[in-house]
Amino acid sequence: MSVNILALETSCDETAAAVVADGAKILSNIISSQIDVHQKFGGVVPEVASRKHLELLNHVVEEALQEAGLEFGDLDAVAVTYGPGLVGALLVGVSAAKGLAYGLDLPLLGVNHIEGHIYANFAVEPDLEFPLICLVVSGGHTDLVYMEKHGSYRVLGKTRDDAAGEAFDKVARTLGLGYPGGPLIERLAGEGDPGAIKLPRAYLEKGSLDFSFSGLKSAVINYLHRAGQKHEEVNRADLAAGFQQAVADVLVDKTIEAAVETGVSTILLAGGVAANIKLRTDLTERAGQKSLQVNVPPLILCTDNAAMVACAAYYKFLREAFAPLTLNAVPGLKLGEERYEGNFRRIVF
Ligand code: KG4
Ligand code: ZN
Repeated sequence: MSVNILALETSCDETAAAVVADGAKILSNIISSQIDVHQKFGGVVPEVASRKHLELLNHVVEEALQEAGLEFGDLDAVAVTYGPGLVGALLVGVSAAKGLAYGLDLPLLGVNHIEGHIYANFAVEPDLEFPLICLVVSGGHTDLVYMEKHGSYRVLGKTRDDAAGEAFDKVARTLGLGYPGGPLIERLAGEGDPGAIKLPRAYLEKGSLDFSFSGLKSAVINYLHRAGQKHEEVNRADLAAGFQQAVADVLVDKTIEAAVETGVSTILLAGGVAANIKLRTDLTERAGQKSLQVNVPPLILCTDNAAMVACAAYYKFLREAFAPLTLNAVPGLKLGEERYEGNFRRIVF
């Protein structure tokens, strides 16, 4: 008998539901993107995101079940992202998941969004061998994580200012490209020369596995500003390519350093920025030179989705790490911590 988990993900601007069997068989993965709604504001408007989740979630859940060919009665658990993220957005998913778990008398599983990103790797490769190093690069996080076993996370380094995805988004806005910036920069960079414009790379103190991208972002802004003052034409494709290369170089160098230092031979890549082809290929190539393996999830599992949440939830299900029905949204939830409030006892009528 397989374990069928319905997972919901509403931490930011994607309303998503998925059904995954045994943490690896993706029966459905429905993502309703709100990008077009937020695009006109140049970024995610939290209140608008919550309202959109409310409108969309029931339909997305229905579609996820339909595509999986299952009914509510075929489910074994309900999982949901309860942090980190936008509080109003998270609350929509958490409330819906609690309602479903209570109504269907199913166990509830609370998943950390970053943990979900990491587990996108296990959705395709369930037999990955521990210990592992994972580079998590998203709109809100840039973390280098050491995993000794399932559910165990030691953060070796993190960004001290902007997350990698945030830097992509801000630089894209400065270049007038729109939102979300990552894919737009990537497209423009494809037409440019990454070596044409020299940009800084912040390696910080020797041995540090932390990151910093705000200096690089400022360097791009200053470059554009100076050119504007001198009425010089800027080759935007070269600038985008130089920026993307500078981000990839630091991410790749520090990830390999983390693996070598900890004696780990397998590296995982996770989060929205993991969809970046330059990062994927550079990391794979450079790690290969050191005989390190790199696992990269398929593009659809890199950006926000609920299949990754169902996958992370499956390993919690096996550990019986269930959440109480008092589960609340925790916008600042840290990787590795569980913040379940109180105990809940089912009332029998
Ligand atoms: O993981 P994600 O979907 O949401 C968060 O949890 O933040 O990541 C979104 C971030 C955005 O900053 C977006 O610009 C970036 O991932 N991103 C990319 C690419 N696709 C998405 N960055 C670089 N290259 C891409 N192809
Ligand atoms: Zn995410």
